[in-house]
Amino acid sequence: MKIAVIGLGKAGLPLAGVIADSGLDVIGVDIDEKRCEDINSGRNPVPEERGLDELIEKHGGKGLTAVSSYEDAGGCEAYIIIVPLFIDGAKNPDFGILEAAFRGVGRIMESGDLVVLETTVPPMTTEKLAKRWLEEESGLTLESGEFFLAHSPERIMTGFSISRLREFPKVIGGVNPESGVKAFDIYKKFIPNLRMVSSARVAEFIKVIEGCYRDVNIALANELFKIADELEIDFYEARKYANHEYCYIHMPSTGVGGHCIPVYPWFLIKEMERREKYDYSTILRVSREINDQMINYWLDKIVLACMKIDKPIDEIKICIRGITFRDGVKELYHSRNLALARLLREKGLKVYVSDELFSREEIEKLGLDQIEPGDADVVFDPFRLEVTIK
Ligand SMILES: NC(=O)c1ccc[n+]([C@@H]2O[C@H](COP(=O)([O-])OP(=O)(O)OC[C@H]3O[C@@H](n4cnc5c(N)ncnc54)[C@H](O)[C@@H]3O)[C@@H](O)[C@H]2O)c1
Repeated sequence: MKIAVIGLGKAGLPLAGVIADSGLDVIGVDIDEKRCEDINSGRNPVPEERGLDELIEKHGGKGLTAVSSYEDAGGCEAYIIIVPLFIDGAKNPDFGILEAAFRGVGRIMESGDLVVLETTVPPMTTEKLAKRWLEEESGLTLESGEFFLAHSPERIMTGFSISRLREFPKVIGGVNPESGVKAFDIYKKFIPNLRMVSSARVAEFIKVIEGCYRDVNIALANELFKIADELEIDFYEARKYANHEYCYIHMPSTGVGGHCIPVYPWFLIKEMERREKYDYSTILRVSREINDQMINYWLDKIVLACMKIDKPIDEIKICIRGITFRDGVKELYHSRNLALARLLREKGLKVYVSDELFSREEIEKLGLDQIEPGDADVVFDPFRLEVTIK
């Protein structure tokens, strides 16, 4: 059996590696030629992923071949699509990359093939948009059983993707029952902990609501943190004893970043807006606002610290110790820590950055300057939420 994985990024490559390691032939398609070359030479382009070096070294260019053209990936029985889906300035999903990938597959698929979407998407994307793109390109129709279509949201976490794929429960659902059964049978060959759900729509919703849950609960933690601070209560002490089997207060933060959690609530908010059900997604919208506004709270805390120093405020050197969205992950998409550094600069303050994941040149390209924390007057650690005056 030959399986194609479309998109060999942080999510797609570990999946391709795990499928190859289970003994199936894998063709990976990625428009990035350099990435394909690396993989075929056994070099792992996602080094931060634990265990991936070994898998790419073992299978790259052998059981796992990477190609940059869809036309070189024909003849597979299943096509798994795992490319990014971004939101635009108005927070609506931008389906451009997804459509290109589905149309690419539509051109090469044959009767009897299965297509599975793994990218997290708004509910009904698979049954409506993906189906239409595939039918238009292939000339095949789903209703007549000429191909099969399912959704299986990828549930990885950068750095731990391989163990997640091998252990964590993964769900799969077809756009019709035949697709569900076919997809389950094929996925079972490489995903040990697989659950079939009743439809692709349910599978899509499962992943989106996981993100919503996290966003809302982080917003709650952020709000309670601010209240505790106002009342001079140690939030962490209170949280430790408040949490038990039926209560889990998350950790506070500077907000929520990355490609996933700050994006998924918008899938539902925007859909409810389209349906004029504005009051159905109130908590999702408010949580987004609370999390995004946390940088204003931390700005005030930093300014208060500056005011304790006997120097004009515009001469005080402020160091933001970490600009990524998560500690130790070199990713800036929707990073609130980067947004905080830029906000402080906009306010006319002398802000600098210290982040071991970035070179001086990379920091300068972001329009910021590097500093050693020891050379700053005020240091803010966004991962420990500590403001220190030197
Ligand atoms: N990285 C994570 O931690 C994570 C976590 C949860 C979910 N996801 C899911 O995985 C999806 C993909 O994210 P990622 O982190 O792998 O993105 P990524 O940016 O790391 O990789 C995407 C890859 O797709 C390739 N690509 C772009 N357009 C293409 C096309 N038309 N045809 C073929 N390849 C194309 C790019 O060259 C790139 O290598 C996300 O949208 C999300 O749903 C990722």
